[in-house]
Amino acid sequence: MKDTILGRRSIRRYTDYKISRNQLDEILNDALRAPSSRNLQPVRLFVIESQSAKEKLRPTLFGNQLQLDTASQLILVTADTKKYEEAHIIFDRSVELGKMPHEVRTRNLESFKNVNADPNDTAFLNSLNLDAGLFSMNLMLVARMYGYDTCAIGGFDKKSINDALNIDKRYVPVLIISIGKADESGYDSIRLRADEVTKFID
Ligand SMILES: Cc1cc2nc3c(=O)[nH]c(=O)nc-3n(C[C@H](O)[C@H](O)[C@H](O)COP(=O)(O)O)c2cc1C
Repeated sequence: MKDTILGRRSIRRYTDYKISRNQLDEILNDALRAPSSRNLQPVRLFVIESQSAKEKLRPTLFGNQLQLDTASQLILVTADTKKYEEAHIIFDRSVELGKMPHEVRTRNLESFKNVNADPNDTAFLNSLNLDAGLFSMNLMLVARMYGYDTCAIGGFDKKSINDALNIDKRYVPVLIISIGKADESGYDSIRLRADEVTKFID
């Protein structure tokens, strides 16, 4: 795990190796073990793989053409603003699998009815971004465990990407992650030390 974390670098140029759909599915399932607020799992993924899909993505990118042209896939990580409407899927399945008492499921689903899930509310959007961010980090580490590398790409137009890829506006775009077999070694970037960014509160 330490090697996985310390060995990860942003990789922007990939070989022409194609990650199979089965393997990508396995990687995504592992990454989806990431925690989320109230386990509502708002992450929704859109995979850009074919040349035609890449051409739809191209005009929305600010730079980042090397990843676009060489990645096996680019994964657009989004979060569902209607996550509360989908909650019953998770809670019903938890009951079915014997992991949650029925009354807990019902209490939770009832409590969601009072939540203000306004897609323009900053706190709500922040929470969606946080869940998608935790998933994204998990994905980049899981990818390395399978022998692949990634680059987080925030350099894209969040206002136009849904239209460009024909994605419903209920899904808020958070990050693109390119993935593939590395064809470069990346940069050895530095980090601030823990003692520089940490304070013990008295
Ligand atoms: C939210 C986020 C957005 C990023 N956007 C881009 C991007 O648009 N293009 C790019 O080449 N790298 C992007 N990066 C990668 C960073 O530049 C990189 O993580 C940082 O320089 C540290 O290098 P390392 O990942 O190799 O450790 C992004 C990283 C994060 C976390």
